[in-house]
Amino acid sequence: MTIKEVQDEILRLKKEQDICILAHSYQAREILEIADFTGDSYALSKMAKNAPHQTVLMCGVRFMAETVKILSPEKRVILSHPQAGCPMAEQMDVEIIQQMKERYPDHTVVAYINTTAALKTVCDVCVTSSSAVQIVRQLANDKILFIPDCNLGAFVAKQVPEKQIKLVQGGCPVHAAVTRKHAETAKSLHPQAELLVHPECRPEVTELADYVGSTSGIMNYAVRSDKKEFIIGTENSIAEHLQYQCPEKRFYLLSKSLICENMKATTLMDVWNCCRGQGGEEITLPPETITAARQCIDAMIALGG
Ligand code: 13P
Ligand code: SF4
Repeated sequence: MTIKEVQDEILRLKKEQDICILAHSYQAREILEIADFTGDSYALSKMAKNAPHQTVLMCGVRFMAETVKILSPEKRVILSHPQAGCPMAEQMDVEIIQQMKERYPDHTVVAYINTTAALKTVCDVCVTSSSAVQIVRQLANDKILFIPDCNLGAFVAKQVPEKQIKLVQGGCPVHAAVTRKHAETAKSLHPQAELLVHPECRPEVTELADYVGSTSGIMNYAVRSDKKEFIIGTENSIAEHLQYQCPEKRFYLLSKSLICENMKATTLMDVWNCCRGQGGEEITLPPETITAARQCIDAMIALGG
């Protein structure tokens, strides 16, 4: 079968079976093309909640499918590839957070949305990469425990110096592997280009950037900018997608190794198989997990996240 034939089959099946396909921006182009919605993790879950479909197929990683389930427990939520996890989301467990809460009882626990549903049950408020600064700034408490990404946490701490932010050692192995040397080399190879970087990168990288923001933030910045050349400091698929979107501009990779193998686990054939009722994994969460994790997400929504 050709890519086009598989895409046509998916479009037919999803209409016939009332399936809403969500695809995170790090997915392959042929998957983005057949999705109902594309975007960053939180934007996708909000779209799923408002979509009238009974079934949601998440082409992304497990915590994203869990977030959809927490926000829309009445829907059938399928993760397109059962092995697509996010190593950062699984770095900590509930017991560690409980111990930290005992050690720092006067701290508000802020969780990056890239956490498991179980972890969210013991945290106070969620943040996304696009809303973290704005949410932390608004918290009534000045003492914050930020989990699990110390790079995003350090970025927030720099923007919100009035808060005392405790960080834990953790983060995205893909973004954290980028070094200052990568940034210096890319800048010297492309002196006219602006460097756009995700806050999951280390501080030594973000401090060299012209813009630091979420996946959607980076994409919007590049599309709207009058500049013509950009070095993309997030998952490499974004440079490719932007190149299609803005053919008159030039997009360069910050590092060849900025590839998330979990995001890349899903193929177009997996999506087809899921629409045919084969493969994928239906997300099920205990009702008490949904209720407790929902409070953490609702706290973010209440603060405008
Ligand atoms: P965004 O929410 O910025 O898309 O980030 C998701 C992610 O996994 C980044 O590595
Ligand atoms: Fe997780 Fe990093 Fe992959 Fe994003 S890029 S899904 S944070 S491992």
